[in-house]
Amino acid sequence: MTRLTGKSALITGAARGIGRAFAEAYVREGARVAIADIDLAKARAAAKELGDAAIAVHMDVSQQQSIDRAVSETLAAFGGIDILVNNAAIFTAAPIVEIERIDFDRVFNINVAGTLFMLQAVARQMIASGKGGKIINMASQAGRRGEALVAVYCASKAAIISLTQSAGLNLIAHGINVNAISPGVVDGEHWDGVDAFFAKYENKAPGQKKREVGEAVPFGRMGTAEDLCGMAVFLASSDADYVVGQTYNVDGGQWLS
Ligand SMILES: NC(=O)c1ccc[n+]([C@@H]2O[C@H](COP(=O)([O-])OP(=O)(O)OC[C@H]3O[C@@H](n4cnc5c(N)ncnc54)[C@H](O)[C@@H]3O)[C@@H](O)[C@H]2O)c1
Repeated sequence: MTRLTGKSALITGAARGIGRAFAEAYVREGARVAIADIDLAKARAAAKELGDAAIAVHMDVSQQQSIDRAVSETLAAFGGIDILVNNAAIFTAAPIVEIERIDFDRVFNINVAGTLFMLQAVARQMIASGKGGKIINMASQAGRRGEALVAVYCASKAAIISLTQSAGLNLIAHGINVNAISPGVVDGEHWDGVDAFFAKYENKAPGQKKREVGEAVPFGRMGTAEDLCGMAVFLASSDADYVVGQTYNVDGGQWLS
């Protein structure tokens, strides 16, 4: 028996990386999955690879109209949404004196407002259905403490941990569990960008930052998207019915709390 049989999920930013791996894990567990992403071509390719259980949906989480349309499209295809993963986010980094307001606004619109208003749109549907649901937000070890060159991204992920607590407390009355996953360093295209940034600001060779952060993980290596799938399935399943407002570190031992 698979753990998500009969469930429908919407995952934002699922065209690649961690969201893509979650989509595959959810399909494996018996769910139907809407792969929602700003990159529709990539979302379509991912949905095709996953077969009949997956659909691709275009969405920009920073635009309310786009959120509403993506939720409507998913409801039309699946008849309901039982699981939402707020995974879409962007990375940015700069020394404090070089941070630009336009970049701050862009990151907070996508990472924070995108998570909140997506969560709101889906929670309204879950409440109307009377069936409750599971909402999983993607936080980060970057949200656990500040970093000298990563102020805006860190603050956006700290906001996710806080929103998860507030929404968790507010929505559990409707049978909606809101929790978060806090990854450490997960190899993939996201980290290719981080590596390039540090190559510039810390004068490192390409690939050097990745090697350094991997060696610093107590487990002994960077994470993979697959390392996170067990937690993503657990939090989406009925095994997590009594779990409310928590942020779980899945990071090879990097952050202890
Ligand atoms: N990779 C890591 O090391 C790491 C560590 C901690 C937390 N996280 C978090 O995990 C999540 C996934 O990370 P990843 O490594 O897979 O990232 P990624 O950059 O590989 O993938 C992000 C996806 O989001 C999509 N996206 C970007 N802006 C969007 C928007 N406005 N609307 C809809 N989709 C949009 C992109 O097209 C992409 O498919 C993010 O929330 C990230 O902050 C990642």
